[in-house]
Amino acid sequence: MSFDRIAPVYDTLSRLVYGKSMVASQRHFLAAISSHATVLIIGGGTGWIVQELFAVNSTCSVVYVEASQEMIRQTEKKIKPKDASRIRFVWSEEIPVGAVYDCIITNFFLDLFSEQHASNRIHQIKNILKEDGCWIVTDFVDEGRWWQKILLKSMYIFFRTLSKIEATSLPPWRLQLEREGLRRKASQKFYHGFIESSLYVHVHKPLT
Ligand SMILES: C[S@@+](CC[C@H](N)C(=O)[O-])C[C@H]1O[C@@H](n2cnc3c(N)ncnc32)[C@H](O)[C@@H]1O
Repeated sequence: MSFDRIAPVYDTLSRLVYGKSMVASQRHFLAAISSHATVLIIGGGTGWIVQELFAVNSTCSVVYVEASQEMIRQTEKKIKPKDASRIRFVWSEEIPVGAVYDCIITNFFLDLFSEQHASNRIHQIKNILKEDGCWIVTDFVDEGRWWQKILLKSMYIFFRTLSKIEATSLPPWRLQLEREGLRRKASQKFYHGFIESSLYVHVHKPLT
């Protein structure tokens, strides 16, 4: 899978189709991230999300894991020198292990994977989210409407051709997160219900 080729036009394309919903949905819960939080962004794309995050939170720090070198290059260009020490880039396709985070952001990331692989990744991500930490997930939801099915089909054909993504359809990410024990604290729909941004919490279960 590679988003290198599409990186220079990714934002223009996505905003052409989804207009302001692309930014509005991903911006929605950023203000809920606490001061001094350690934030992991996986598959963040061209990096405008970091600008948005730093604009509302002047003390958090970010680890930015991206599989595309070109996406990382575009993100680096957007970071102001004064914020350079607040972000660390990791060029990788793997979910990082070792550290745990106060908040994790995966926007339009889980939809790239088959149901099984999305499930594996959700499990891995939960394991690096602190207890009571938050996970912001923004992605498409299939409510069964005809136009949503057409859009989903077209997007999967497009991204499978250009970026060689493995998925052929949307994994049931909401169900998968629930199965992992993540609790949905809040949620907001965009683009006539086709895009959902949700704030999940890794609830601490006391030993019985
Ligand atoms: C559909 S784009 C979404 C970009 C961004 N989140 C947005 O909504 O504008 C998916 C992004 O995930 C990255 N990606 C794909 N597989 C990845 C992986 N295994 N680990 C990290 N990033 C990955 C791609 O390079 C791409 O930038």
